[in-house]
Amino acid sequence: MLTTLSGRSVLLVIGGGIAAYKSLELIRLLKQRQAKVTAIMTKAASEFVTELSVASLTKEKVYTDLFSLTDEVEMGHIELSRSADLLVVAPASADLMAKMAHGLANDLASTTLLATDKKILLAPAMNVRMWQHPATRRNLGLLKADGVLTVGPNDGEMACGEYGPGRMAEPAEILAAIEAYFAGGALPLMGAGTGSRPLAGRKVLITAGPTHEPIDPVRYIANRSSGRQGYALAEAAVALGAETILVSGPVHLPIPPGAQMMPVETAAEMLKTVEAELPADIAIFAAAVADWRVAAASGEKLKKGAGGLPDLKLAENPDILKTVAQAKSKRPKLVVGFAAETQNVVENAKAKLAKKGCDLIVANDVSADKGVMGGERNTVHLVSATGVESWPELDKREVARRLMEDFARRIGAKA
Ligand code: C5P
Repeated sequence: MLTTLSGRSVLLVIGGGIAAYKSLELIRLLKQRQAKVTAIMTKAASEFVTELSVASLTKEKVYTDLFSLTDEVEMGHIELSRSADLLVVAPASADLMAKMAHGLANDLASTTLLATDKKILLAPAMNVRMWQHPATRRNLGLLKADGVLTVGPNDGEMACGEYGPGRMAEPAEILAAIEAYFAGGALPLMGAGTGSRPLAGRKVLITAGPTHEPIDPVRYIANRSSGRQGYALAEAAVALGAETILVSGPVHLPIPPGAQMMPVETAAEMLKTVEAELPADIAIFAAAVADWRVAAASGEKLKKGAGGLPDLKLAENPDILKTVAQAKSKRPKLVVGFAAETQNVVENAKAKLAKKGCDLIVANDVSADKGVMGGERNTVHLVSATGVESWPELDKREVARRLMEDFARRIGAKA
């Protein structure tokens, strides 16, 4: 059996964190697919998994100590970092990410990561607050600018009892991202079949999901968006070879393998993240952004009874699509908006195209009886300055695949 990973060599850096136990499963999956896996463990990692279990699974020597003379004679850290085809850091702790972002090299793991001339894939894992901390956001931005790839983290229950983004991607997802890398940055999308990658070397930015606008620390304004259409678009963009950035509000969907996920909650955060990701070749605004936020969200939980009903004053949220479509600099070549309408779908979409200043509106009917919002299927109309194209009802993934191929054509991208 030959796989994408046959004969490939992966250097796995295991950082400190409870998620380190999942890296054992990752090693097993990689070995099953005939990859060679060599592991480096940080000092903190050995608090969570043993060197012996890592060595038994990799069937290779495990490297742990920067200043081991024997290791330096057998294989120095520079050689170690270059002998692999890809470096994978799983779990990538906040500390390891900070070191990498700033070029610190004070142990074997960080030294190797600094010395390598190969691509690095990070599978971040940390507490929700640590992941959302501006320092980590900054470090992630720096690392991405350096060309570092990421997979995850996912939303979910954390070992510390909190809920949110920070859970390391599952071993199967990390494996998929590794395979995607070796397959040339793209995973075959089910049903795509053509294998053509017209968006290779292009950057596609996609917003997806709802936004949550806080009322107080425990309540928020939201909507019924599932994020499915946006996630399917991200999957399709990866399949066509694009560097795919998915800026997503809170949803319960797995991150499409190969896409880089930037989790956000509010419209303001979404705009900030989108702007930080520009320039891009194509920007697709599939998110159901809340039109309003509570002007002054309370820092404390609002109490029932005391002083009658809360007086919630609303403020208008920034229009992300309009801001990007009308930007003086860094405007993507193709800016696509979505219009969820319950009546006069095409007419309203035409008006929206003009108002927003985008190149294309993908319009759909979200009347309750159509089951589009939160559902699996969609009927869309493509509205541009040159006319309207109406498509039959299709599965959202098929809609995404066809849309992405259409967008690639519109920017003149050829396979
Ligand atoms: O204005 P309306 O919500 O109908 O427009 C929908 C389109 O605009 C979608 O593409 C949506 O993602 C985008 N939008 C946005 N920021 C907002 C509101 C909508 O990007 N604040």
